[in-house]
Amino acid sequence: MQIFRDKAALQHTVKALKQKGKSIGFVPTMGALHQGHLSLVSQAAEVCDSVVVSIFINPTQFDNAIDLRNYPRTLNSDISLLESLNIDLILFAPNAVELYGEKVEAEHFIFDGLENEMEGKYRNGHFDGVGTVVKKLFEIVEPDKAFFGEKDYQQLQIIKKLAEKNSIPVEIVGCPINREMNGLARSSRNERLTTEMREEASFIYNTLLIVKEKFGTESAKNINDWVISEFKSHPLLKLEYFEIANTNSLKSFEIKEEGEEYRAFIAAYVGDVRLIDNIALNN
Ligand code: PAJ
Repeated sequence: MQIFRDKAALQHTVKALKQKGKSIGFVPTMGALHQGHLSLVSQAAEVCDSVVVSIFINPTQFDNAIDLRNYPRTLNSDISLLESLNIDLILFAPNAVELYGEKVEAEHFIFDGLENEMEGKYRNGHFDGVGTVVKKLFEIVEPDKAFFGEKDYQQLQIIKKLAEKNSIPVEIVGCPINREMNGLARSSRNERLTTEMREEASFIYNTLLIVKEKFGTESAKNINDWVISEFKSHPLLKLEYFEIANTNSLKSFEIKEEGEEYRAFIAAYVGDVRLIDNIALNN
């Protein structure tokens, strides 16, 4: 695996590959890699000739300084995990100055309202930070395709909008959610859960599975009330939001419209660890 800290050297290597006619796949991450990240890398390697993975803990997308400080920094084990895939990868692991220069600041974006729903309501400035760093990374790497997990479904839709609105010639590919044995969506944050909490956290996915069943026959209000009462009976988990939303607009579900797709979304705290998950309801 080739590892680059500075963008000029990375760009030089990527340009040489492009000149040879190789397609470039890109998987941006914040490190603390797990099987969920690796599934994106494998998917990228299946459809692209060369794959660039980036690891950068992006300060501008954290609305909470403690969360940023607690974010796991595990570059050596991340490198070992990537090497275990036996794919010839390119790793880009820049520092903040390399990406931002001296001013570590977010640009402000309008993603046609996508930024105001769910995570946008609860994590102030989060999507400005994500948009800023992903736009910078796209400009450096210039990938043909970029791979994002459906785990962060709102982020995936926002990145599609970012590429469209800024005329960035990249295809955004959504990848399925990779889960632990008990159904819990894999996340770097799961490492902060005790064994008991990790077991209890599977309740989030189990709830989503029942929501999917109920979606066929019950009203949005009934489903909403049911989810709230279920969470109340699980004191280890604190529900932040439950939302059924249109897959494209991410607007709250009111009445089912022909030909539209819907997803259910949950954000919940297990202790002080914030977890998110979602499920497709009618596709
Ligand atoms: P990070 O949380 O490290 O996630 C990197 C990518 O891995 C994202 O596209 C995320 O959706 C995907 N991912 C994480 N867990 C997954 C799982 N269980 N199954 C499938 N995919 C999963 O998301 C970010 O970093 C950052 O916001 C980033 C886009 C890198 C910008 O800083």
